[in-house]
Amino acid sequence: MNILILGAGGREHAFAWKIRQSPRCGQLYVAPGNAGTAAIATNEPIAVTDFDAISALVLERRIDLVLVGPEEPLVRGIRNHFRSRPDLAHVLLVGPDAAGARLEGSKDWAKAFMRENDIPTARSATFTAPSLDEGLAYLRTHSLPVVLKADGLAAGKGVVIAASHEEAETTLRNMLGGQFGEASRKVVVEEFLAGIELSVFVLTDGRDYVLLPEAKDYKRVGEDDTGPNTGGMGAVSPVPFADVDFLAKVDERIVKPTVAGLQGAGMDYVGFLFIGLMNVGGDPYVIEYNVRMGDPETEVVLPRLRSDLVTLLEAAARKELAGVQPEVDPHTAVTVMLVSGGYPGPYEKGKVMTGLEATESVISFHAGTKLAAGNVVTDGGRVLALTGMGATLEEAAAKARAAAEKVDFEGKYFRRDIGTDLLAYL
Ligand code: AMP
Ligand code: GLY
Repeated sequence: MNILILGAGGREHAFAWKIRQSPRCGQLYVAPGNAGTAAIATNEPIAVTDFDAISALVLERRIDLVLVGPEEPLVRGIRNHFRSRPDLAHVLLVGPDAAGARLEGSKDWAKAFMRENDIPTARSATFTAPSLDEGLAYLRTHSLPVVLKADGLAAGKGVVIAASHEEAETTLRNMLGGQFGEASRKVVVEEFLAGIELSVFVLTDGRDYVLLPEAKDYKRVGEDDTGPNTGGMGAVSPVPFADVDFLAKVDERIVKPTVAGLQGAGMDYVGFLFIGLMNVGGDPYVIEYNVRMGDPETEVVLPRLRSDLVTLLEAAARKELAGVQPEVDPHTAVTVMLVSGGYPGPYEKGKVMTGLEATESVISFHAGTKLAAGNVVTDGGRVLALTGMGATLEEAAAKARAAAEKVDFEGKYFRRDIGTDLLAYL
């Protein structure tokens, strides 16, 4: 079948890499893609939110299956668009409809969903500009630290963990005062959960689901988890403290009621569900839902998936996931992200990359790159994810780090400590 992947990051290159290995993959397109996807697929210069251009491409290229990488087209209703067009009714699309995407698009909606479905999560209350005074009063007696979250998509910047009541009150005033525009029209105030984070990944057809390998992401830019948040500086799978007992609790207490809750709400939820969890003393709590795969988590999850991804995606889109059991490689995968100097603040693009040919001991996923005058050049904050595989976490991490030293571009930076905190759990 002919397949179109929407997106331009490391996640989409990892999808393309895995899909390419399938004997079921015919022509493969990525829109807009990057220099990495260009080497294994055909890039199409179309924005992920340009539904008309995407629809035209799907018809012109006889695409059978569309895999949506990032959240924005989902929140904006790409599935609804496809389902509203009789000429696209035959196209399989992996990604939830706009109603399902509210799990990620509205934190207030997600909290209400979890309350209704008895899914463990931090206790919370939601405030809007008219209820500012009530919110300030609520904060004054709240335990510290306290977590404030802009309701909508805020490019990863909408969460503040306030250490003092003063900081919390200022944050609430700023957010409700329009700091993130429409995204902070509502603010969720929630309890701080102390524990260690990990993420689980689910592929569902709206009724049945499969669990994919879990992963741990490293969000802070600096080593030892210091400095500002980023999209993710690296990831590890499997996560040593996520043992069989813990993952069984996640399945029973969180995944099952989530999928059942979506179905119960009458949603057409076909696609990935990324559940960010806090392990609090051995019990899982939901920190957030995302309605897509993670980036860079995909770069460690897919290398561990032995099953054919096209078969899984097609089964999900046809609502035939019942009884499907993905096969997983027991090796450890560690990915290290090379980023542009200055990221997540301002950074320069267009730096020529060298040493890409010296990475044969890892899988190299392009995140923010493009081709310019025959060179691969940097084209984003996150540039390249290098995934090492090994029988042990140390071996996988050492491979990823060694490759990260070899690739070069002006201003290159990466964390050398990805995975080291997990050695204590082995
Ligand atoms: P989110 O955008 O919801 O993923 O939040 C960003 C980060 O804030 C998470 O990855 C956590 O590290 C942290 N965080 C969010 N909610 C909580 C919470 N209730 N308790 C502790 N940390 C949290
Ligand atoms: N790495 C976190 C995310 O994809 O949201």
